[in-house]
Amino acid sequence: MCASTSSACRLVVLISGRGSNMQAIVNMVRGQALPVEICAVVANKVDAAGLEWAQSQGIETKSVAHRDFSSREAFDEALAAAIDAYQPDYVLLAGFMRVLTPGFVEHFNGKLINIHPSLLPAFPGLHTHQQALAMGVQWHGCTVHFVTPVLDHGPIIAQGVVPVLFGDTPSTLAERVLQVEHRLYADVVRWLAEGRVSLDTMQRVQVHGIASRSFVLTSTGVEPSQR
Ligand code: GAR
Repeated sequence: MCASTSSACRLVVLISGRGSNMQAIVNMVRGQALPVEICAVVANKVDAAGLEWAQSQGIETKSVAHRDFSSREAFDEALAAAIDAYQPDYVLLAGFMRVLTPGFVEHFNGKLINIHPSLLPAFPGLHTHQQALAMGVQWHGCTVHFVTPVLDHGPIIAQGVVPVLFGDTPSTLAERVLQVEHRLYADVVRWLAEGRVSLDTMQRVQVHGIASRSFVLTSTGVEPSQR
């Protein structure tokens, strides 16, 4: 939990690819001068494009290549050790495309946050936009949640919704959802840094002082929904 002391909220961000969510988080933290330190961006691939961007911003980067390990457990142990070196308050999965072992999830219990490109609990796993189009849903979106050992599951912090439009393809839909993802994850990081986020005894998320934890894409941009 951050904001309980005068020191900055320490974050480690995990990526696997271009890292646009990571960029949105970094830009928001810096733009609003939040008491947040992005200690490192860590990737499971040496050539993850987001690493280069993070380096260009003066952020420490590290890669722990999953291909170098013979088992999921061995990789997760090495990854956990790399993260522990930064003593983060939170570990943000931002397009980190690895299934994590229960041991890893337990090690970071209460600190591990993920963004998933669907309105969970609908469409866990891969190809979420394709799944949404195949089901004919009229609304789709994204979810930021605490991670549990169950894939794409866990206490929901916030969600963002977009309409599914006639003629959408997985890529047009993905692009629309991504606009909301960037706003959603950045706002959640601000709430974490401000010490607003906690879990109640039922393992449901409470975000103190925030009226709306849902966002909607409108013709003028992404806005908190009015409720
Ligand atoms: C994002 O759409 C994110 O929600 C998704 O990968 C993309 C990464 O984009 N994550 C997952 O599917 C995790 N299950 P980015 O690298 O540009 O942030």
